Amino acid sequence: NENIKLENGETKQDCAEQKTVVYPNNGFNGKLAFAIAASALGSSFQHGYNTGVLNNPQTIIEEWINCTMGNRTGTPPDPATVTLVFSILVSIFCIGGMIGGATTGIISDKFGRKGGLLLNNIFVVLATIAQSTSKSAGSYELMILGRFLIGINSGLNAGLAPMYLAEISPVNLRGAVGTVYQLVITISIFVAQVLGLGSILGTKEAWPTLLAITIVPAIFQMVTLPFCPESPKYLLLSRGKDMEAQKALSWFRGTLAVHDEMDVMRSEAEAMKLLPKVTLRELITNSALRIPLIISLTVMCAQQLSGINAVMFFSSKIFEMAGLNKGDATFATLGMGAINVVMTVVSLFLVERAGRKTLLLIGFSGMAIDTALLTIGMIFANTNKAASVLCIIFVLVYVIMFATGPGSIPWFLVSELFSQSARPIATSLAVCINWTANWLVGLAFLPLEALMGTYVFIIFVVLQCLFLLFIYKKVPETKNKSLEEISAMFRQQSYQ
Ligand code: GLC
Repeated sequence: NENIKLENGETKQDCAEQKTVVYPNNGFNGKLAFAIAASALGSSFQHGYNTGVLNNPQTIIEEWINCTMGNRTGTPPDPATVTLVFSILVSIFCIGGMIGGATTGIISDKFGRKGGLLLNNIFVVLATIAQSTSKSAGSYELMILGRFLIGINSGLNAGLAPMYLAEISPVNLRGAVGTVYQLVITISIFVAQVLGLGSILGTKEAWPTLLAITIVPAIFQMVTLPFCPESPKYLLLSRGKDMEAQKALSWFRGTLAVHDEMDVMRSEAEAMKLLPKVTLRELITNSALRIPLIISLTVMCAQQLSGINAVMFFSSKIFEMAGLNKGDATFATLGMGAINVVMTVVSLFLVERAGRKTLLLIGFSGMAIDTALLTIGMIFANTNKAASVLCIIFVLVYVIMFATGPGSIPWFLVSELFSQSARPIATSLAVCINWTANWLVGLAFLPLEALMGTYVFIIFVVLQCLFLLFIYKKVPETKNKSLEEISAMFRQQSYQ
């Protein structure tokens, strides 16, 4: 048992019992699987699909913007204006993501995790209407609005879904279940890459359908998620509903014997009553909360500033820089998307064995070495065939390393690092930072590449090394620890 510091400076015994809960069948069962599918498929699909969907049809959509502008004014627009509109289309998604992410705390407190996820589908419906009618309405403004709305939806999903997943899963599966969020992102990026091909939906006529497909997982979620209970932790700890929490927990565990787990949750509820409500100020000034906050924000920045979306958004360009022709570059991009999926599946199984910290360290060190090699390879890629082939391999290895841990772990680590009362607000900040960093990379990569050429990757090498050092020094291992134990660990650290 730990001592906890009260607002008035006194300390009290933390009543959280460190009970080890034994789960039947390891805690996995059909109902849990159903809830994971209902929450993750419907939410992270939006995040991944809309990250990748404008990649392949870029030229076609730019042509449409060009025509629409020309029809309005009678003269064709300046190419720079068309590029500007297209880059607004791309980046407004991340701005929506920042806003959605920032509101996660309020929404998840007020409507619950499941409630928030369900309500969030309103944005998908509105975004789908705006995006799929933009062509017939002759309005790229409508499409910008649609991208903004689906961005808000994706930002909210990125906070709500990992929170729900972390709160419903048994301790021994929390990392694997949390990884499902990232797995669906990678699958949906790949689906977007495939459907966006010129031979499928990336055509002049069909691109509005390509954008409208985003409604499908929302419908799936609206039909399935209502059958799943709200997060038991939310019901008990945030709403004080003991009976409902127990019923929900029994549903997720597939057994009525959930007393031990309920006891642990009740102890946490008791401990929570002793503590002041967590506000933003509290988060920053209380060192037991500040340490996990800094870790969460840094790991989120690390995920994005590792340069992953420079590769995801501009992979075809990078492959062309490495000497491939356009057709082969598209093909290599598909290969990269597929490798991202496969490796994320592998990491789902690794995360409960190797642990979060180990996988983050392996991922970031692998990326740093690989990106350094890529930078060197790029210098020779245009004149030397072997160097060009090596560069393509380096890009693929980069994605493998990212998918080992840096891709999935940050999403659920935030939920793991905080106790119930601080989790929503900490998630808000972390998800907002993630989308901000994502937006920055998208904005800065091409101008920096124009300035520095292939040496642009050195920036990522330096950042990856810095983050690696931080993770090595500061990130604790959370594998197999209950959320209560993790908070107690930070409380202890804050006294040292
Ligand atoms: C992570 C990132 C996302 C990126 C994806 C690629 O989910 O947050 O921005 O596109 O990984 O797999």
